[in-house]
Amino acid sequence: EPVESFDYVIFGATGDLTMRKLLPALYRRFAEGQITADSRIVGTARSPLDDETYRERARKALGEHVRADELIDATVNRFLRLVHYVSLNGAESTGNWDGLKTLLESNASADRVRVFYLATAPDLYGEIARNVSEQGLRSDTSRIVLEKPIGTDLDTARKVNENVGRYFPENSIFRIDHYLGKEAVQNIIALRFANPMLERMWDRESIDYVQITAAETVGLEGRGGYYDGSGALRDMIQNHLLQVLTVVAMERPESLDADALRDEKVRVLTSLKPLDRNNLRANVARGQYVQGTAGGKAVPAYREELPGETESNTETFVALKAEIDNDRWQGVPFYLRSGKRMPEKVTEVVVQFRAGEPGLFGEARPGSRLVIRVQPNESVTLPLFVKHPGNSFGLDEVDALSKLGQPERIRYRDSYEGLMLDAVKGSPALFVRKDETEAAWKWVTPILEGWSQDETGPDSYEAGTWGPESARELLQQAGHVWVEDIAA
Ligand code: BG6
Repeated sequence: EPVESFDYVIFGATGDLTMRKLLPALYRRFAEGQITADSRIVGTARSPLDDETYRERARKALGEHVRADELIDATVNRFLRLVHYVSLNGAESTGNWDGLKTLLESNASADRVRVFYLATAPDLYGEIARNVSEQGLRSDTSRIVLEKPIGTDLDTARKVNENVGRYFPENSIFRIDHYLGKEAVQNIIALRFANPMLERMWDRESIDYVQITAAETVGLEGRGGYYDGSGALRDMIQNHLLQVLTVVAMERPESLDADALRDEKVRVLTSLKPLDRNNLRANVARGQYVQGTAGGKAVPAYREELPGETESNTETFVALKAEIDNDRWQGVPFYLRSGKRMPEKVTEVVVQFRAGEPGLFGEARPGSRLVIRVQPNESVTLPLFVKHPGNSFGLDEVDALSKLGQPERIRYRDSYEGLMLDAVKGSPALFVRKDETEAAWKWVTPILEGWSQDETGPDSYEAGTWGPESARELLQQAGHVWVEDIAA
């Protein structure tokens, strides 16, 4: 069933995100019949393009970013009829706002849902929100979607929230974190709260530690300008990994309502033990890759990939130990890490249960390990020991494996698809509330401050490895190991 007809206005419509993610996501939903033919997608950006030229760019982008068997010429043509373009700098009050307004008001009822999607530089968000509002484009059925990063630290995040909040009420602000759009991340909620057995064991009595990894094989991908000013902590940890952490660690929400859910998530973030900026090494390892190999090929160092080969100290890898100061999690480390140029592209959550007592089967039984594979190939595995068939009590480890639902459907659904339509429906459950962003920034900001005073800079790691030695040491203190070292 299609969602009600809407107008989607994208600021930053010629940018990489729009081409790589937003248009393909809308196309797929259109192809599945969830978007009505009288809905409109209006791209805006500075370049002076007409509808036809923009549509051709969109066609090209779909060709590159949608799988061939999902691309049907006739469907693409029908989809492109929804697409319009208005040349406009959203951050300036002059420009073709009248043109945009006329377009939006033509052939549409006054209460039609309008989504303003901000895929521009984040320092423009406040101005765009102001212009949208002052030019009379915002109505009661309007929503604004903000891409990450919201700010670069706690102060700037607060300012963005305040500036946008002046023109849009909080319940119409949709801060997108595409990790919440991932099927396997949402599934953590089902796994935890639909299985009483797991629910009962989900605490410090049973769980030894938790690891959350988001590793990527890619390097800078030509995004040096943005990335070098950001680094892995701001790019991945503050948002994506802390969001996954909230879902793994939160208390049972009263319901699945947006605010019930987000109340619990925010509680996790505000319960994180503050880190000591003067003693960061006890909890945080940071790395930057030097040359090595990726996918069997020699790849250059981070600094060589940067335009101008600067002496940048930006981290391309972070591993950290977070602790949650509440009854459920007291004393259970949550190890988070993310890096570029790792050996594989993998996002997973590993829940390490406590070891057993020695006895019946010889030495102490190792604790079970629940692995939630977020990508690629979503799965949940929980290996169990069973008796080896025969005359003795030897043990075999079997994989109690479950794929998530129907993999052929899930695999190709991109995280943006569901979220973009949730914004149309006005369902904010899988979006980040103001207090969540701010609590997450509050926790990571001392790390940024500590680093800015530490001249030693990040530790080096060879491209194609699991990060610097300091990441391993972080766990060794407690006798823990990263998952790939267990497997090895
Ligand atoms: C983005 C980051 O938010 O997430 C990128 O800016 C990163 O640096 C990307 O590559 C990873 O997303 P995914 O869905 O491929 O894990």
